Amino acid sequence: MDLEKMINEMTLEEKINLLVGIGRSGVGDTPRYKVEGAAGETRPIERLNIPRTVHADGPAGLRISPKRENDEKTYYATAFPIASMIASTWNKDIAFEVGKAMGNEAKEYGVDFLLAPALNIHRNLLCGRNFEYYSEDPFLSGEMAESFVRGVQSEGVGACVKHFVVNNQETNRRSINTKVSERALREIYLKGFEIAIKKAKPWTVMSAYNKLNGKYCSQSWWLLTEVLRNEWGFEGFVMSDWDAGDSAKEQIQAGNDLIMPGKSYQTDPSRKDEIEEIKEAVKRGEITEEIINERVRSILKILVKTPSFNNYSYSNAPDLDEHAKISYMAAIEGVVLLENKGALPFDKSTPVALFGTSQIETIKGGTGSGDTHPKYTVNILDAFEEKGINVDKQLSEFYRRKVKELRNTKYKVQEDIKPKLPENILEENFLEDLAERNEIAVIVFSRISGEGYDRKLEKGDFYLSDDERELLERVSKAFRLKRKKVIVLLNIGGPIEIASWRNLCDGILLIWQPGQEAGRVVADVCTGVINPSGKLPTTFPKGYTNIPSKEFPGVPKEDPREVIYEEDIYVGYRYYDTFGVEPLYEFGYGLSYTTFKYENLEVITKGNYVIVSFDVENTGDFAGKEVVQVYVRAPKGKIDKPFQELKAFSKTKLLQPGEREKVLLKISLRSLASFAIDKWILEKGNYEIRIGSSSRDIRLVGKIELEEKTFDVSGGVI
Ligand code: BGC
Repeated sequence: MDLEKMINEMTLEEKINLLVGIGRSGVGDTPRYKVEGAAGETRPIERLNIPRTVHADGPAGLRISPKRENDEKTYYATAFPIASMIASTWNKDIAFEVGKAMGNEAKEYGVDFLLAPALNIHRNLLCGRNFEYYSEDPFLSGEMAESFVRGVQSEGVGACVKHFVVNNQETNRRSINTKVSERALREIYLKGFEIAIKKAKPWTVMSAYNKLNGKYCSQSWWLLTEVLRNEWGFEGFVMSDWDAGDSAKEQIQAGNDLIMPGKSYQTDPSRKDEIEEIKEAVKRGEITEEIINERVRSILKILVKTPSFNNYSYSNAPDLDEHAKISYMAAIEGVVLLENKGALPFDKSTPVALFGTSQIETIKGGTGSGDTHPKYTVNILDAFEEKGINVDKQLSEFYRRKVKELRNTKYKVQEDIKPKLPENILEENFLEDLAERNEIAVIVFSRISGEGYDRKLEKGDFYLSDDERELLERVSKAFRLKRKKVIVLLNIGGPIEIASWRNLCDGILLIWQPGQEAGRVVADVCTGVINPSGKLPTTFPKGYTNIPSKEFPGVPKEDPREVIYEEDIYVGYRYYDTFGVEPLYEFGYGLSYTTFKYENLEVITKGNYVIVSFDVENTGDFAGKEVVQVYVRAPKGKIDKPFQELKAFSKTKLLQPGEREKVLLKISLRSLASFAIDKWILEKGNYEIRIGSSSRDIRLVGKIELEEKTFDVSGGVI
């Protein structure tokens, strides 16, 4: 394919057409999308055999409509665990497999671009879309995103890393001006993108809605051209988030190649026609034809690789059974055991009383563009029964009946809004009998959030609601009186307050929002078929007042216009560790049914790398996997530094009791440098290499002396 020839043959009108999406499906003169429920399409140029290409969300699975008008067939897509849970696996192979399965579903349903992964930073735990994002740490985010992108693109469809950048809240996301220092940007908020983009070469990047230091991201030349292309060498195209920004002209000038979904006036009459705006800017000489050619070239270079361009004849029949297995496997490694006082695992035959309406309405994932439409979601109760766990029938039947009744009366689902069910529905004397005849109480609490809204610092969201607390207190009292164990399952997308109630139970399992295999995953971890090996990708604080991001969601409070990231680089554990604030569960934390021993640390430098090796041994009597984490503590120098930072990690294979594995990890010197004004500086001195099972459970410490080194902003290993 001779791209230049193709561009030469295009009229200016055709070129401009390629820079703006086709509009919203079926609205005005926009045709219905080829794939029902997709998010957008590029415009075709039939004369030149350039077809429409299809874009669809999202991070937890391909989001398309499962049913179509006048069509008997179904178009279900697999619901995978949310990104925070994928990050909790700390297993890059899993991120790859999940990406590959989603890429395959995209390809087989006629989609060219999957609008994922999303890798904004968990700056504040109330961000409504944190579940779509990986972590508070940019290295973990970037590494997981890298594997995910490789997986998607191994199927020959494009990934889209989003939302570039600092889209860390939903409140006023389309207009909020985020003020952040260049150092925090480079070291925290851009870092994950830099890693994923340099290492995995995604076909596309999505610019974020918000402003960055006064400029809309989609209109920022500095962000989209200087940093992304000139410094990092990005070779794909940039698309805007849906109806982002306020000037098509500035978007094209800045390096935002594709404006999506196009025709923003279809939903907002005050908006101008992007095509007309660009044409006028060209007429006035504010955009040269050379710039138009550059944008067209970036887009076409990728479009020619798409399945649509190459007339791929898709099956509409991806292997959903196989992908369900991948979803299960990913979720099972992401479950995090937070507390265990001899409560877990329990034997299948142990009588278990299951409490909470979420055993029926188990949450698979969040809402909005990060949602999915799978064929099924296995809830916790059904899976417990399917797996032959000895659940209390009378109690479960009560919950089945009651949930149905509540949904048919006071708590009807209306227009997709599901009012939260009450949890104070048990009769008083019922509990005594339950505690008498069961050995274990399992209580499920759930939360859901999504695009467009941030979570609330209220009961029923960050805090347990009064009825949830009441249920926990009553069950705890009744069961503990009879020396029976109480386990809480947290079916949530981000941290909630736990410190005030954790003593009421003997085990807490963070099951996140685990996708369509939810119940099976929970059943297998509870009964020890699988040993939990997930670790937290984000800190769970003792209370909200402890968190670093004091300014959220900005000022003025009622209707924020701007948000200042005053905490600067001290995000997540960087803050807790540096300023001596004790978290409830630290970054990288997670228990196992077995124990691991670390020994034989060796640290050497080789060229531009520090090479770390050590042994991990399973010293317990349960087979298990361990997430090993390498933190580096830099010497005191001219530049302020966090106490320690994650610089490498990996997950062992399944280690049998007594089995050991040699771990070998590589850290680039550039990744140890701090950003100062216009370059990266590695300060000289003694660096502490801290090997841990979590950020606060450091098992081995080595030292290495390094000379000062500076690195250019552009290029280079990360
Ligand atoms: C979201 C994106 C999504 C797009 C298309 C936007 O509102 O922010 O993440 O990809 O819609 O659905």
